[in-house]
This record gives sequence, C-alpha cells and structure tokens, in this order.
Amino acid sequence: MAKVSMTVNGKSVSREVEGRTLLVEYLREGLRLTGTHVGCDTSQCGACSVHVNGKLVKSCTMFASEAEGANVATIEGEADADGTLNVLQQAFQDHHGLQCGFCTPGMIMSAASLLKDNPKPTEAEVRHHLEGNICRCTGYHNIVKAIMAASGQDVGAIAAE
Ligand code: FES
Ligand code: FES
Repeated sequence: MAKVSMTVNGKSVSREVEGRTLLVEYLREGLRLTGTHVGCDTSQCGACSVHVNGKLVKSCTMFASEAEGANVATIEGEADADGTLNVLQQAFQDHHGLQCGFCTPGMIMSAASLLKDNPKPTEAEVRHHLEGNICRCTGYHNIVKAIMAASGQDVGAIAAE
C-alpha cells in the first residue's frame, strides 16, 4: 500500500492504495465519485473518461499512482455547486443526447476536451473525436448535435436520429 494524493474537482484528496489500483478505482471506490463509469475491460468504451492535468484520459488505463500530484476533473465537477448544468450538459439535455445515460459522463468529459482545443468543430471532427467513446444506445446523432449546439453552431443540418 502507498499513499496517493491528488486534487480532484478542486479538492485535495489522499488515500492509501495498492500499487495496482487504477485511477478509475481510486475515483469510484476510494472517493465514491461514481459518475465515472466502467463499461468495458478493454479500454475501448470511454465511459471512464476524465481529465488529468487538462488532458482527456481513460481512467481505466492508468494507475492511481501515476496521477500522484495531478489535477483531476470528473463529471461531478462539471455542474455548478447549486446543480446548474454547464453548457454541454444542458445541450445534451436539450438535444436528447442521452438515453440510458451510462456513456454520458464519458461523452461530456470527452466533448469538453474537444471544445477546449477546438471551440467550433465541424460535424466530422466531432464524430472523429468521439471514436473513443461508445454509446450502447447508439445515440450518436443526438450526441453530435448536442456538442455542436454547445459550441454555438447551427444543428439544423444534422440528420435526426
Ligand atoms: Fe475505460 Fe471502458 S472502462 S475505456
Ligand atoms: Fe445509453 Fe449511451 S445513452 S450508453
């Protein structure tokens, strides 16, 4: 066991964990931040996406110890403290960008990363970026629409689901 400390959603946290503990386990089991989901064991689904030092990361692909001292952002930190949704979350709601919601935290974290680097992506760029995130409800059209809308672009031309 070793102590691993980091900042998660602006709060300093510290826990004793085994060396093999993954970041996703640290977040979900250690901190009870269960909005970060586990949808596969092959690093394909993206449901576990978080930001580590501002970079999009699948938290099942790194050990918690590798995030020692890092700034980590999870879906729980996206809305305001009073529960007001951020622009992306609101756009997902407005454009029906979710069905069961399982993939949604990962989609939001992934989309946030895209819009930070590319504030006005094309539809093709959004679709390309989402290749690392799987939605088992196949809600991709509306997810793309939501992300385009959150970037302030017209979504009228995007095919309906
Ligand atoms: Fe991490 Fe699926 S749980 S990619
Ligand atoms: Fe169900 Fe995407 S909304 S997995």
